[in-house]
Amino acid sequence: MTALLVKNPAQIVTPRPGSLRGPELADLSVRSGRSIYVIDGVIQDIAPFEDLQNRAESDNAIVIDATGKAVVPGFIDAHSHVVFGGNRADEFALRTAGASYEEIATKGGGIANTVRATREASKAELKSIAMDRLNRALRQGTTTMEVKSGYGLDTATELKMLEVVAELNDEHPIDLIPTFLGAHSVPKGMDKADYITEVKAMIPQAAEIAKFCDVFCEQGYFTPAESLDIVGHAREHGMLPRLHANQFHSIGCIEAAVEMGATSVDHLEVLDAKEIALLAATDIGCVMLPGVSLFLDIPFAPGREIIDQGCLPVLASDFNPGSNMSLSLQMVMSLACMRMGMSVNESLACVTQNAAHALRLEKVGCLEPDWQADMIILDSPDYRDVAYFYGENHAYAVIKKGQLV
Ligand code: NIG
Ligand code: FE
Repeated sequence: MTALLVKNPAQIVTPRPGSLRGPELADLSVRSGRSIYVIDGVIQDIAPFEDLQNRAESDNAIVIDATGKAVVPGFIDAHSHVVFGGNRADEFALRTAGASYEEIATKGGGIANTVRATREASKAELKSIAMDRLNRALRQGTTTMEVKSGYGLDTATELKMLEVVAELNDEHPIDLIPTFLGAHSVPKGMDKADYITEVKAMIPQAAEIAKFCDVFCEQGYFTPAESLDIVGHAREHGMLPRLHANQFHSIGCIEAAVEMGATSVDHLEVLDAKEIALLAATDIGCVMLPGVSLFLDIPFAPGREIIDQGCLPVLASDFNPGSNMSLSLQMVMSLACMRMGMSVNESLACVTQNAAHALRLEKVGCLEPDWQADMIILDSPDYRDVAYFYGENHAYAVIKKGQLV
């Protein structure tokens, strides 16, 4: 048995359990005068230190003094592309000189560039590069992360990426949730219908590892009908559907997501009132990615409207080489507050409890007895500093399943 006591934090801050909408999002619990007692990775008790002291001593608990520091749940990143080869700093330079993301993609750069590098990389290379990225994410408080394939665009490389995710999940403290994104783009020189046939043929093997099947539903990539066809097949093999939708254009992907019973729609930078109303009537997570808007200088998803109309909002990084080279969910919270009309409380709920819901995870993203002990001890007594004092890493210590990592 391993026991841990987080002693006397200035605040213990957590969203309420459950999938949160509207005013529930801002209704955090903020407790002081309490300590957190953990046994074997699960929170046992949140009580005054005096009530826990004897138990902690007889259990030989490790004690972390959190005096003057706030504690929040470990962050859950519901959308990332952490496994890929190469680097697109050259395209970043082109963009700073005025080229757009879509122009670069049309000229053969973009996703195709990373596909080349990912195919060339060995599994060991991919793993070691991704391991470094996971370490960076963990240091910034991310304790659970969804990771997509999608830079292989052929059977061997798509499966190689998923195997890397599965192995890293065993070796790294961050819990990784694999998503199959074979339909991220059509490989160069290949007919789209032929590639869709190939993607569908990958599905039975991909489903052995991946929990979700995602499609880049977008003009120039995959249509709503093609997305439905692909995820329909994935569903038969037990994967849950989700979509990259409405990043640049509104082409019916939201309607398709509703029809397929998607777990989430991700991006939503271009979203109208009718689409918001459609989503509000469902259990679909609206995964907003403000880092992409900053990085590409495109509109931000309408976070305020998404919340006010009763949708289920989520915030994530979309860490990837082309449209957001940042792993920081702390920065995502700041951007949500500064550019999307969201409050600090809402942004925290969106990277913890609601992210867990979108990933269909139980017992993470909340600090209550019986929940998994994933938490961040902040370097500040006030949790609001995470979003307010921005561009800083406020994680003083990160705890995953009751272990200091
Ligand atoms: O989530 N939107 C599509 N795919 C990625 C970016 C891919 C890339 O440029 O490498 C995204 O933003
Ligand atoms: Fe993405």
